[in-house]
Amino acid sequence: MMTYHNILISVHNEILTITINRPDKLNALNKKTIEEIGDAVKNAEADAGIAGIILTGSGQKAFVAGADISEFMNYSAKEGKELSAAGHKIFNSIEACEKPVIAAVNGFALGGGCELAMSCHLRIASENAKFGQPEVNLGVIPGYGGTQRLVHLIGKGKALEYLMTTDMIDAQQALSSGLVNYVTTQDQLIAKCEEIIGKIKKKSPKAIAGVIRCVNANFAEGVDGFQTEIDEFGKCFGSDDFKEGTTSFLEKRNAVFHRGKKVSQD
Ligand code: COA
Repeated sequence: MMTYHNILISVHNEILTITINRPDKLNALNKKTIEEIGDAVKNAEADAGIAGIILTGSGQKAFVAGADISEFMNYSAKEGKELSAAGHKIFNSIEACEKPVIAAVNGFALGGGCELAMSCHLRIASENAKFGQPEVNLGVIPGYGGTQRLVHLIGKGKALEYLMTTDMIDAQQALSSGLVNYVTTQDQLIAKCEEIIGKIKKKSPKAIAGVIRCVNANFAEGVDGFQTEIDEFGKCFGSDDFKEGTTSFLEKRNAVFHRGKKVSQD
């Protein structure tokens, strides 16, 4: 595990909370911060003691106010492309994580912050949260998947509107457009995320990982999501989880599943 300078991590009830901790810069994402988030997610995914991950920002004002503008403002086209590719790799790994990852959006989620939240499986927003993709104000476009995941989540027409106007999306608009799953008070934000992961962690870890792979397959270039589902469905049969799930049902008791080190490699 690398030493973290820009994030804080804590574990409670088998849930890893990653807090992006650059409050004086509204938790803006520099390269180091993104690497640290990627490392923490990777370690949690491999850790049998972790059931799910919450990603949030420190303070009450910002989740993440974007990529760190001061870091990339003098980049060449080549460096810009490399920055985007490196970010994509890590954001894709969050999206592909086999354990639930929830963004607890506690304030501004702009640019890379909105993109980071969208790479998580679910998003819960506090009432003061504001989402947006303001990149075109800076003469650049979203570079961490925003042009794709915003379309996936809210549809092409509204996505194009927000990407081109840079209008901010408040918490209630985010809820009604499907960008977030729930809106809570600041006080209840983490509790709501914990409640959801608490529900998911009682389910079969192998089946949860399969669901994540299948849903992601729906958006993957050149992949037949229906075929992925057929393959993943078949893989469940004969697994310990399938045996326990079906047996416990017939025995009229709650299933008890066990997490392996990294679910897909069991
Ligand atoms: N990159 C680097 N620094 C950032 C930042 C970013 N994306 N967002 C905020 N900051 C810094 C500010 O420069 C400021 O630093 P300073 O105190 O050293 O001057 C500090 O965070 C506080 O931000 P400030 O702008 O003073 O707060 P505000 O309440 O007036 O405005 C925002 C809040 C979010 C509206 C405003 O900070 C903003 O527009 N940020 C940039 C959003 C953006 O374009 N993101 C996409 C980047 S690709």
